[in-house]
Amino acid sequence: MIIAIDGPAASGKGTLARRLAAHFGLPHLDTGLLYRATARALIDQGRDLADREAAIWAARGLALTDFDEQALRSRDMSEAASVVAAIPEVRAALVETQRRFAHRPGGALLDGRDIGTTICPDAACKIFVTASEDARATRRALELRARGEKVDYAAVLEDIRRRDARDSTRAAAPLRPAADAVVLDTTKLDVEAAFRAALAIVEAAAPSFRSAAG
Ligand code: DC
Repeated sequence: MIIAIDGPAASGKGTLARRLAAHFGLPHLDTGLLYRATARALIDQGRDLADREAAIWAARGLALTDFDEQALRSRDMSEAASVVAAIPEVRAALVETQRRFAHRPGGALLDGRDIGTTICPDAACKIFVTASEDARATRRALELRARGEKVDYAAVLEDIRRRDARDSTRAAAPLRPAADAVVLDTTKLDVEAAFRAALAIVEAAAPSFRSAAG
């Protein structure tokens, strides 16, 4: 059984995905890390983010164990990941890795932008997590400050708007809810309430998950 969690930047989908995966004992793939690691490889090689050939090679050369998550979660890497993620051949190079992960015998949980629409259209449960721009910018600013980055709210809001616009208007697998996804708005929910709401969605979509978690 596959659980697909999609949504825009700082919607709370990462936290939810981790909690749901732990609750159901499922392996979890944060697919944003694939795009972040691709961008990181380009930057480390001194290449331009617009260098399509280099980006495609970097994506093809990724291994799921390569990630230095802490370094990849910086503000700069968020923007760079969104740029390389708009290159259709980069996305194509990462499809197989994601599908192989998703189709493990015991099931899996993946989060990203196009899991329910493109990577796993047959997922048993699809949740599209969203929140107001203000809530997302506030959360992201707190998260970046906790990492030690000096950011102000206005700059973070601007980052989020730019990234949302790029991620949802690109031609290849743009960010949008799958037709059969349940939309979960976390604007007014704390982490615990969002988790409870997501749990109810999973259990309604795939009752077998209830017994699987015990
Ligand atoms: O989820 P995240 O913030 O770590 O993602 C970083 C960028 O990667 C995001 O702005 C767009 C891209 N991305 C994508 O295009 N498709 C995915 N499935 C996951 C992320």
